[in-house]
Amino acid sequence: MDQLLSGLKAAAEVTRLRLVALLARAELTVTEVTQILGQSQPRVSRHLKLMVEAGLVERYQEGTWAFYRLADRGPGAALAAGLKQLIPHDDLTISRDFARLDSVLAERATQAQDYFAAHAAEWDELRQLHVSDETVERVMLDALKDFGGDERVGDLLDIGTGTGRIVEIFAPYFDRGIGIDLSADMLAVARVNLEKAGIDNVQIRRGDLYALPFADDSFDVVSVHQVLHFLDNMPAALGEAARVLRPGGVMLIADFAPHQLEFLRTEHNHRRLGFTDDEVSEAMKQVGLMPRAPQKMRAPKQNNADSLTVTLWQGIRDDEQLADRTSHNKTDAV
Ligand SMILES: C[S@@+](CC[C@H](N)C(=O)[O-])C[C@H]1O[C@@H](n2cnc3c(N)ncnc32)[C@H](O)[C@@H]1O
Repeated sequence: MDQLLSGLKAAAEVTRLRLVALLARAELTVTEVTQILGQSQPRVSRHLKLMVEAGLVERYQEGTWAFYRLADRGPGAALAAGLKQLIPHDDLTISRDFARLDSVLAERATQAQDYFAAHAAEWDELRQLHVSDETVERVMLDALKDFGGDERVGDLLDIGTGTGRIVEIFAPYFDRGIGIDLSADMLAVARVNLEKAGIDNVQIRRGDLYALPFADDSFDVVSVHQVLHFLDNMPAALGEAARVLRPGGVMLIADFAPHQLEFLRTEHNHRRLGFTDDEVSEAMKQVGLMPRAPQKMRAPKQNNADSLTVTLWQGIRDDEQLADRTSHNKTDAV
């Protein structure tokens, strides 16, 4: 009762309802919220603090940035989900906020794409900052071979394929591969690389990983190598990737474990400083993937800087799990 009352009190104010609407659509920093609402930063911070205390909003700190999103777990999650449903999207204030949110998100996307475009040709060198590529590629390849058994796998999709490195090394182990990426510059490099390597069972396509241009259940394997840390909505990306995976198919995700290397954000446009195993497993379960035990690849310390650990997360598409979860959610809603 106390929890419900404090949640209702926290929500019963116009700015805070606007925050429910915004944070249901995207993870945002205080600066971004301030930009959208046109209110002072201390004021916005006060509202957010109150909503976090009431369990309606989750805050997570990454280095010097703090992100806010509508709670999807914990004591306030059910009320947050209910409020999200009730927000009137045709309300003038809300639709203006959404228009400003769209431009904030578009600005983010442009910055990231500018960065990728500027660095397309040298990307392979930038990757050397991290744990050795060979180590990660070997572990990923072992996972792929393990999944395929003695056979080649059928269809593989590499999301955020960049220079096409993953499809290039996986090519002998699948029948047909597609590498998809948003950056035309990256794809130009990928095409050149694949042609040089004489690979003819891979297609390169331009597209957005949040809206993949493929039907449901189209691939046996989906790989996502060093892409998630650039995104502002990892769960949505996983949901879209799981949609195109066939039942029983595997998703292979390689990305950083949590770290403190802030320069990767300021100089290399990383949005997230790594992911915890719990965060990825929970996001997998939400989209009907059964997580397998993660594998860790640690880099040696370099120039006194902290070392970076790459994790390989694997999830098998398991429709029973999704059905269980959906019926559970429906029961909750009733
Ligand atoms: C660090 S690169 C990794 C490339 C490749 N997977 C590899 O490991 O070599 C990240 C890639 O994600 C792509 N990317 C970022 N946002 C994307 C989006 N919304 N849709 C598709 N690709 C995206 C970028 O263009 C970039 O090529």
